Amino acid sequence: MIPTFTGNNMKLNIAVLPGDGIGPEVTDQAIKALKAIASEFNHNFKFTTADVGAVAIDKHNNPLPENTLDLCKSSDAILFGSIGHPKYDNNPSAKIRPEQGLLKLRKELGLFANIRPVKAYETLLEKSPLKKSVIKGTDISIYRELTGGIYFGEKQLSEDGNTASDLCVYSSEEIERIAHLAFKAAQARSHKVTLVDKANVLESSRLWRKVVTEISKQYNDVELEFLFVDNAAMQIILNPKQFDVILTENMFGDIISDEASVIGGSIGLLASASVGEKFALFEPIHGSYPQATGKGIANPIASVLSAAMLLDHFELHREAELIRLAVEKSLKLSITTPDINDQYDYVSTTRVGEFIEDFIFNPKDTNINFKNIHLGQSTII
Ligand code: IPM
Ligand code: MG
Repeated sequence: MIPTFTGNNMKLNIAVLPGDGIGPEVTDQAIKALKAIASEFNHNFKFTTADVGAVAIDKHNNPLPENTLDLCKSSDAILFGSIGHPKYDNNPSAKIRPEQGLLKLRKELGLFANIRPVKAYETLLEKSPLKKSVIKGTDISIYRELTGGIYFGEKQLSEDGNTASDLCVYSSEEIERIAHLAFKAAQARSHKVTLVDKANVLESSRLWRKVVTEISKQYNDVELEFLFVDNAAMQIILNPKQFDVILTENMFGDIISDEASVIGGSIGLLASASVGEKFALFEPIHGSYPQATGKGIANPIASVLSAAMLLDHFELHREAELIRLAVEKSLKLSITTPDINDQYDYVSTTRVGEFIEDFIFNPKDTNINFKNIHLGQSTII
């Protein structure tokens, strides 16, 4: 749907799919941030929630019920939580699985490009197990193809159950459309695209190289480099600063983006946008983290930053920037969850969300007691 503008005011219908595990609790914090933005900037955001994943299987015996898909199709954007449940992970013969909900959603909505920014925050350099000198200054944007490849190729299991296969298929068109997005992104960044593939072994990777090389001719100001995925996996932790935009197919992108999250200090910080021609979905890259569910220890920042990407998508850049400022402030003041906070008085998921919401309302508050006031611990209020 095309969002409507009325002067400064933007009306957006946002479908909220909290999903499983920690999904609902982190998504709640992203909604708080978006509501605060709507109120501060005079926008009108309407949120409608629907089931997806294991909760949807429990309730409707379907990981992506029709009405959830319909809601997504009639909304301007989708805010997604997370998906997955151990009862399926540990049961390889389960026919209906939560992940099918997300994969079908990506396919049905044509969300072919998954954009995953990876950044080393100055205040978190110590949190990464990687050396400060290695990660300082890292700023990568991963462009992962999301609706093709081995995820969606034909799957087979022999009758005796002893042989299985998954086909990896790509067409030139599928490669072209995401390649253009990656090159355009590089033009607005540091002018470099690294194509990650396995062209020394896979036919599909050789097609990627051919098509991407051809497209690169239209982007003379962007340098194109190739890396085999095994080498890329090593380079990402050896020297992540060499990367600007990484372009890659579905499964390689899934793997290297989790790996790259180590640079930021926690996977709980990594946001993503999945975009297609008509629809856009915003989700943290982390999973449902079942062990943490309901404990208030899940980091909501990936979800909050996904909300910022949603705002950027609608060109609400000032609004997105304010969310990012709020996040940076929370990191600076260590108003953070235990994955990046080793103090005994770490802050809960909800408290981080409340701090971010508060900052959006009071960005100029430079009171030295900021932390205490915003955590309700000050002796002066
Ligand atoms: C991700 C997730 C999904 C994927 C799973 C939940 C299907 O790992 O978004 O990275 O593999 O794409
Ligand atoms: Mg993944």
